[in-house]
Amino acid sequence: MSTPVSSDRPFLNRRLAAFGTTIFAEMSALATRTGSINLGQGFPDTDGPAQIAEAASRAVLTGLGNQYPPGPGVPELRTAIAAHQQRFYGLAHDPDTEVLVTAGATEAIAAALLALLEPGDEVIALEPYYDSYAACIAMAGAVRVPVTLRPHAGAFALDLDELRAAVTPRTRLLLLNTPHNPTGTVLTPAELTAIAELAVERDLLVVTDEVYEHLVFEGAHTPLAGLPGMRERTVTISSAGKTYSFTGWKVGWITASPELIAAVRSVKQFLTYVSSGPFQYAIAEALALPDSYYDTLRADLAAKRDILADGLAAAGFEVFRPQGTYFITTDITPLGEKDGLAFCRALPERCGVVAIPNQVFYDDKAAGATQVRWAFCKREDVLREAAERLRRL
Ligand SMILES: Cc1ncc(COP(=O)(O)O)c(C=O)c1O
Repeated sequence: MSTPVSSDRPFLNRRLAAFGTTIFAEMSALATRTGSINLGQGFPDTDGPAQIAEAASRAVLTGLGNQYPPGPGVPELRTAIAAHQQRFYGLAHDPDTEVLVTAGATEAIAAALLALLEPGDEVIALEPYYDSYAACIAMAGAVRVPVTLRPHAGAFALDLDELRAAVTPRTRLLLLNTPHNPTGTVLTPAELTAIAELAVERDLLVVTDEVYEHLVFEGAHTPLAGLPGMRERTVTISSAGKTYSFTGWKVGWITASPELIAAVRSVKQFLTYVSSGPFQYAIAEALALPDSYYDTLRADLAAKRDILADGLAAAGFEVFRPQGTYFITTDITPLGEKDGLAFCRALPERCGVVAIPNQVFYDDKAAGATQVRWAFCKREDVLREAAERLRRL
């Protein structure tokens, strides 16, 4: 037997030894044990539209998708995804060759990175990053190169010079996320244009995670794939979980050129092959919901953002009011605190609320040491109660 690389997980391979249990599992368990309000994990506490839930139950009862659906996804859903890209962004996609349905955005990220990277390739990811990015880059045997979003004038900003300087001859891929979890930053059209020019100039592939595309409170979401030169080098990822509040259904998708889709599909077929059969039909209906659905979702979440942001500010946190997503990042320094992880571990006992320390999303732990993330995709009464409890700090 080889030498164990991790004392509590002796059989885990070296590529993944650094990845412990996710912080979400730890904090959700803490929430349950202490009966706290869980603003840690980002799932809505209210289900999505009843008509979409009914569509899913109808699909099950009428035998739609109960057996293995087609590998790329059911045609109804692929057609609806293509229509969505056309409707919201004016981007034309062939549902047969340029759309791939996945088991949530999580599988899309894994399949894309495993398909497109060679061992040793460098991947530039915006830090703080969604936790599966680092693990999937490691699974691909690639090297992650973080570019840190830094607080500036009340928001987290990308330093384009730092991004340019991070590209080396070994860089294969940029892994983007906009709107950005956990900071709530939405990259501006000017930033996206600069990123696109860099990708073209240095011949890089881009995987862009746009799962919060419909949760933009200021300005509009700009898909990177629509910018000059990007169509043939961009893999765009989205998910029904965030837009329709059915995170447990795990229906995600990729849109890209036929060549990129073919590469990702080759990996995806050996990960899950297929998933979420009946839910795929329901999400096909969801994608066709009228504009009023999307407007209400956004307005509802903007109001919730304001309740929690105001509550956090009143409790003494420095608040970075997000432009998008359903997360708020705060800084705990004004409370005299220095370590977000210790703060989050103690918070349930102190006032019955659970949050996530952003430092787990950083390679540069010092850069995120005092940041804490709060999810506001919860009922208004829950958010008001959380704000009330936080005042005790
Ligand atoms: C940035 C980002 N990407 C991907 C995901 C995962 O999406 P899914 O549940 O569709 O796998 C999440 C979920 O929190 C996320 O925040």
